[in-house]
Amino acid sequence: EQKQDLNGINVLITAGPTVEEIDPVRYLTNRSSGKMGYSLAQEAADRGANVTLISGPTKLAHPTNVTVIDIMSAKDLQQKVESKFAQNDFVIMAAAVSDFHVKTIADQKIKKNGKNLQLDLVANPDILAGLGRIKVHQRLVGFAAETQNLLENGNKKLKEKNLDMLVLNDVSRSDIGFNSSENEVRLLQPEKEPKLLKKNTKENIANEILDQLLIL
Ligand code: PMT
Repeated sequence: EQKQDLNGINVLITAGPTVEEIDPVRYLTNRSSGKMGYSLAQEAADRGANVTLISGPTKLAHPTNVTVIDIMSAKDLQQKVESKFAQNDFVIMAAAVSDFHVKTIADQKIKKNGKNLQLDLVANPDILAGLGRIKVHQRLVGFAAETQNLLENGNKKLKEKNLDMLVLNDVSRSDIGFNSSENEVRLLQPEKEPKLLKKNTKENIANEILDQLLIL
């Protein structure tokens, strides 16, 4: 019997990749499968939370007892997250959000002409940093996907985005992180030593993240 220790807690989770259109047949995206965020959503719901999952396109089945909102672009994700933020207690940004969008989405398929093509990429706003500026009672959790200087980059994000916790992923390893069924992460919290969550299924890692959030 699953403990119901998240009863009455409203949890907002983002998961999966975002998709930035280039033209009617092409887009920019990334390697996120959604597994980490979906595991968090399912485990939180199983522990009694009211869970809203904002998801980019994935191949995964919807978690049960979870309200799922589908999005495509970073802009869609931002609108949905910001509209749900006030009514949630735990907000966990596991989605791999595009840092750029294409300046002008072409109405028609861009034709090749034997020459190189330049795409004008415009920076997307940092959604998580925006939430860090407006949070009140929320416990705000970010993820970081890094390939080098992990602790340094992670601590910088924890501080600059005003987070209560940062889940640090080493995406240079292929056995964990993007698309694998297992993960190994470090949890960074202000004024605390990093906590290593040893390699385990994403379900178990999700439960350990939720345990830590409860005692914050
Ligand atoms: O989906 P899986 O295949 O299971 O893989 C899981 C994962 C590796 C994708 C996931 O655990 C993870 O690390 N997600 C965050 C990936 C990411 O976008 O990292 P980042 O370091 O670029 O961003 C840091 C944080 O800011 C993230 O919480 C991200 O959601 C957020 N962000 C990023 C860019 C942006 N414009 N707005 C944001 O809010």
